[in-house]
Amino acid sequence: MRCLRPLRTEVGLVVALGTFTLFFFFNLHMSPPTCPGLKEPPSTPLALVWPSPPPSRPLSSSCQANASMASLPDFAKQPQHIRNFLLYKHCRDFVLLQDVPPDKCAQPVFLLLVIKSSPSNYERRELVRRTWGHERQVHGFLVRRLFLVGTDPNPLEALKVNRLLAMEAQMHGDILQWDFYDSFFNLTLKQVLFLQWQETRCTNASFVLNGDDDVFAHTGNMVTYLQGHNPDHHLFVGHLIHNVGPIRFPWSKYYVPKVVMEDEHYPPYCGGGGFLLSRFTATALRRAARTLDLFPIDDVFMGMCLKREGLEPASHSGVRTAGVQVPSSRLSSFDPCYYRELLLVHRFLPYEMLLMWDALSQPNLSCGKRTQIY
Ligand SMILES: *[C@@H]1O[C@H](CO)[C@@H](O)[C@H](O)[C@H]1NC(C)=O
Ligand SMILES: *[C@@H]1O[C@H](CO)[C@@H](O)[C@H](O)[C@H]1NC(C)=O
Ligand SMILES: *[C@@H]1O[C@H](CO)[C@@H](O)[C@H](O)[C@H]1NC(C)=O
Ligand SMILES: *[C@@H]1O[C@H](CO)[C@@H](O)[C@H](O)[C@H]1NC(C)=O
Repeated sequence: MRCLRPLRTEVGLVVALGTFTLFFFFNLHMSPPTCPGLKEPPSTPLALVWPSPPPSRPLSSSCQANASMASLPDFAKQPQHIRNFLLYKHCRDFVLLQDVPPDKCAQPVFLLLVIKSSPSNYERRELVRRTWGHERQVHGFLVRRLFLVGTDPNPLEALKVNRLLAMEAQMHGDILQWDFYDSFFNLTLKQVLFLQWQETRCTNASFVLNGDDDVFAHTGNMVTYLQGHNPDHHLFVGHLIHNVGPIRFPWSKYYVPKVVMEDEHYPPYCGGGGFLLSRFTATALRRAARTLDLFPIDDVFMGMCLKREGLEPASHSGVRTAGVQVPSSRLSSFDPCYYRELLLVHRFLPYEMLLMWDALSQPNLSCGKRTQIY
C-alpha cells in the first residue's frame, strides 16, 4: 500500500467521498494522518498547522450596533445587507490582523499599488504579484504593492483563510487585513481604514493606484504618465462617471434606498475598478472622510469626499473599468497591441493576466500587422 502525502490524500478523498470529505478534511488537518502499516519517524507537524482559536477575543473589534437605526422609516423592509450597513456604519475602528513590514515605504515609493481583495481570492493575488503588481523599479521609480482584505463572515471559513493570509503576509509582506466582515457594502470602510493606515505608514508615497484584484494595470505606462505630475498637486483620475444617482431597484447589487440616501444625485466620481491619486489628494480624502458619514458604495464615497474638499475627479481615457470596446472587429478584445496604450482594464481572469503580461513583456511585440496569436 502506498502512503500518499497529506495533500494528495485530501484530493483523493474529495473525489471519493463527496460531502463527507469536508468533515474528514478538517480532521486531517487537526492531526496529521498516520499511515497504517508503515513505520514512520515521529511525525513532525504539518507545515500548515491548524491555528488554535484566537486568545479569548482581545483581537476582535467590538462595536455595538446602533439600535436606534431600527426606528427609521422602512428599516425593517430593507434587505439584510442594508440593515447591517445602517446598524454598523458608525464603526470605524477595527483591529489590524495583518500588517506589512515596517520597511514597506522606507525608500521613497513613487507608486503604491493598493489592491482591494477578498480573503479567499488567493489566485488573483498570486497572479497580480507575478505580473503587473510585481514590486520593482520602473524607469528608476519604485513601485510597491499591498492588498486590502477584511475577514470572512463565516467563522469556519475565516479560520482557514486567516491562516492563509498569515502565510501570505509572511511570504510576501503585502497583506493589510482588518477584523471586519469583507462584504460589498463594507468596501468604503476598507478604503477609509487604508487612508488612515497610510497617514502614519506610507504618507510619502508620491502616487497611489487604488484598484480591484481583477484588473490588469499597465504599471509601466502608469509610471510614465505620473512622471509628468507633481505629487503635491491635486490628481484623481480614472473612468469618470457623472450625472448618475442611486439605483432604487432592490434587486440591484448597487441598490441604495432612500433611508440610506435621499438625494437622487451622486457627485462625479471615478469607477472603483481603478483610479490614480496623488499624495496631496490622499491627504484631502483622509480629511474629508473623517467628517462624512460612510456611504456604502466606495467609489461614490470617494466622489463625495472630493466634493467636500472642493476637488474634482478627472477622466483618463486609458482607464477602462467598464471593459474595452475594441476599435475594429478585426481586433480581438484580448489583443496586446491594444493594451499597450492603456493604463488599466477591468475584468481579467487570473490566467489572462499572465498571458497579457507575457505578451506585453515581449521586447519584439510587433503591432500594426496581424501576427498575434490572440
Ligand atoms: C444612531 O442612529 C441615530 C438615528 O439615525 C443617530 O441619530 C445617531 O447619531 C446614531 N448614533 C451613532 C453612535 O452613530
Ligand atoms: C461590516 O463589518 C462589520 C464588522 O465586521 C459588520 O458588523 C457589519 O455587518 C458589516 N457591514 C456590512 C454591510 O456587511
Ligand atoms: C516623509 O518625507 C518627509 C519630508 O521629506 C520626511 O521628513 C519624513 O521623515 C518622511 N516620512 C516617512 C515616513 O518616510
Ligand atoms: C520575439 O523574439 C524571441 C527571441 O528573439 C522569439 O523567440 C520570439 O518568437 C519572438 N516573438 C515574436 C512575436 O516575434
